[in-house]
Amino acid sequence: MGSEFSVKKMNFMFWVLMVLVIETQLIRCSVTYDRKALVINGQRKILISGSIHYPRSTPEMWEDLIMKAKEGGLDVIDTYVFWNGHEPSPGNYNFEGRYDLVRFLKIIQKAGLYAHLRIGPYICGEWNFGGFPVWLKYIPGISFRTDNGPFKFHPTIIYYYQAHEAMQSFTEKIVDLMKSHNLFQSQGGPIILSQIENEYGKQRESIGEDGYNYMVWAANMAVRTQTGVPWIMCKDDETPDPLINTCNGFYCHQFTPNRPYKPKLWTEAWSGWFTEFGGSISQRPVQDLAFAVARFIQTGGSLVNYYMYHGGTNFGRTAGGPFITTSYDYDAPLDEYGLIRQPKFGHLRELHKAIKLCEKALVAAEPLVTDLGPLQQAHVFYPEKGGCAAFLANYDTKSGARVMFNNRHYSLPPWSISILPDCRNVVFNTAKVGVQTSHMEMVPSGADIIEWESYNEDILALGDGSTITAIGLLDQLNMTRDSTDYLWYRTSVEIDPSEHFLHSGELPTLVMKSTGHAVHVFVNGKHIGSAFGARKDRKVNFSEKVNLQPGANKISLLSVAVGLPNVGAHFERWDMGILGPVVLHGLNQGQRDLSSNRWTYQVGLKGESMNLASPNSVSMARWMDSKLAVQNQQPLMWHKSYFDAPEGDEPLALDMKSMGKGQVWINGQSIGRYWTTEARGDCKNCTYAGRFKPPNCQVGCGKPSQRW
Ligand SMILES: *[C@@H]1O[C@H](CO)[C@@H](O)[C@H](O)[C@H]1NC(C)=O
Ligand SMILES: *[C@@H]1O[C@H](CO)[C@@H](O)[C@H](O)[C@H]1NC(C)=O
Ligand SMILES: *[C@@H]1O[C@H](CO)[C@@H](O)[C@H](O)[C@H]1NC(C)=O
Repeated sequence: MGSEFSVKKMNFMFWVLMVLVIETQLIRCSVTYDRKALVINGQRKILISGSIHYPRSTPEMWEDLIMKAKEGGLDVIDTYVFWNGHEPSPGNYNFEGRYDLVRFLKIIQKAGLYAHLRIGPYICGEWNFGGFPVWLKYIPGISFRTDNGPFKFHPTIIYYYQAHEAMQSFTEKIVDLMKSHNLFQSQGGPIILSQIENEYGKQRESIGEDGYNYMVWAANMAVRTQTGVPWIMCKDDETPDPLINTCNGFYCHQFTPNRPYKPKLWTEAWSGWFTEFGGSISQRPVQDLAFAVARFIQTGGSLVNYYMYHGGTNFGRTAGGPFITTSYDYDAPLDEYGLIRQPKFGHLRELHKAIKLCEKALVAAEPLVTDLGPLQQAHVFYPEKGGCAAFLANYDTKSGARVMFNNRHYSLPPWSISILPDCRNVVFNTAKVGVQTSHMEMVPSGADIIEWESYNEDILALGDGSTITAIGLLDQLNMTRDSTDYLWYRTSVEIDPSEHFLHSGELPTLVMKSTGHAVHVFVNGKHIGSAFGARKDRKVNFSEKVNLQPGANKISLLSVAVGLPNVGAHFERWDMGILGPVVLHGLNQGQRDLSSNRWTYQVGLKGESMNLASPNSVSMARWMDSKLAVQNQQPLMWHKSYFDAPEGDEPLALDMKSMGKGQVWINGQSIGRYWTTEARGDCKNCTYAGRFKPPNCQVGCGKPSQRW
């Protein structure tokens, strides 16, 4: 008896202990997941989310954007974290202005919404260098996004920079910052989900074992930060537990998580596509987007994130690419300026309402699928506890269908899904848009800029102390470390008076290759031509006749970066700029290779070193009246003017139609690059035509890709 009693008592005590453990876990860890959904404070949720990237708008816009997103039926705001914005040099952090991440998250919290923090810290995102700080490339022995000590966290970095700033350190820095402001849901904050790495699957496969080991390391490192909320990886089927693998794409209904106990989440439902200089503008019809979302939900999906919900602007030199435009509008429900884009915004809002009416059934049952016709299906959620929700789908892109469901007739337009929150009444069909189309129109602000002053950029100047001389051609990024888009390559060519061409008039040709992205060529101070790469092939070929004089000739090549690439493998191996060969053809000797000449390098433009873009710069620059400047026909020029800010707080844009290529500053802040090159390619108007994949619907051909 005695012993039996003591055993029972021990059991009891054990039981009490277990309850305590479970209870503390519930309090501490308020976001979990199961095979159906994310579970927040014990409740499964269908979550509608939208990407809004904080540095792609101004802090003054954030509250308005987030409130509009809430009105559009969003539960979650999703953002990447922008490493190169937050750590411009090793150990020097910036969380101010557009990079005030804490303020952004607190606005989300105040609005009563959740947040998904996609730390990466590789983020791709058409963002300069995929979010990596360029200084990372110059850490000895580094290899990006693989099983590599210096990249992950290695002590060599501590040795070189007296700080730990590789992937682990940055991730921990961000998590600690969030924790210190109680921003995780487990602390009562808005963050319910975090992402480590980004679209790593293909990369991992190409790297092999090191890629796999790195992925596992990244997952474990993330979990060890103990945020109390789940971590995800997107687009990688091997994502290890407890991380959730998620889908990115135009459609994700066919996606299944890699374990049966993980929910089906869609981290990037592409609302449109980005634009590149020289490219047309993609538009994704809202009917197709709504169809894709409904199809994902009907197949058991429980979180959809629109990428983008507000795309915004790539201010300064933050655009990736190369050649991604300053506008990152993305045909999102909120346009670049934060204005509501109809019918996209309104139609999706109605979709979200319809989905929310089904939420109880969706999280409580598996879909029962029945065929209603050759290309028609019903997905029915019929929980044991009662309730019923149904999705009736027509996958035919051309023809509508009349189907029979629960002894009733329903008409389904082509490529559409009807939502029936009670399995009887249709509250929404993805193809039936009841919202008026909005037409955004630019109107003159009254702030016409008439008076201009100009400053000639110095093309020939050398030896002001900021130059480096070397034998041979050097890598541009290594020289500039991305402190500027510009690097001058200058050399001198001696022409003998006996050269045949001086008498025959058969001019020699300067032939040159650059690894990117653009180049302007000057001979003896005269612009003889320019050449440009493209986003897909950033290499540049240049070939032009040149007029050389007997004696010394100055060849000045201005190599221009137009946004560092944001996608690909082995960032550490990328080179850029004029790496040769640079060759003169048509001389007496045939060709003369200038590649191993003595070259003088100057980082940046003279106007940059004089800080001409700053309104406070006190400089010796000789500005002249622009009318004189125009007569001069100088190809590289700075222009400045003053204007009175228009009244009110409407969005304001600059019309750059009359300009060429360059950068714009207002009150010393760079608002981005411009290039008025026209959009090439085939345009196809966006009348709704079913299945979407760019370039399905393209507009703007023959016009500048970005005028405003
Ligand atoms: C960068 O430039 C420095 C000095 O010019 C040179 O020593 C170094 O090898 C270069 N690094 C790379 C990666 O090209
Ligand atoms: C540049 O020249 C190479 C051959 O030298 C060629 O393969 C490549 O397509 C050219 N690039 C462009 C943009 O014309
Ligand atoms: C597309 O629509 C615009 C405006 O309605 C029109 O000007 C343009 O010609 C159309 N383009 C094509 C290729 O149909």
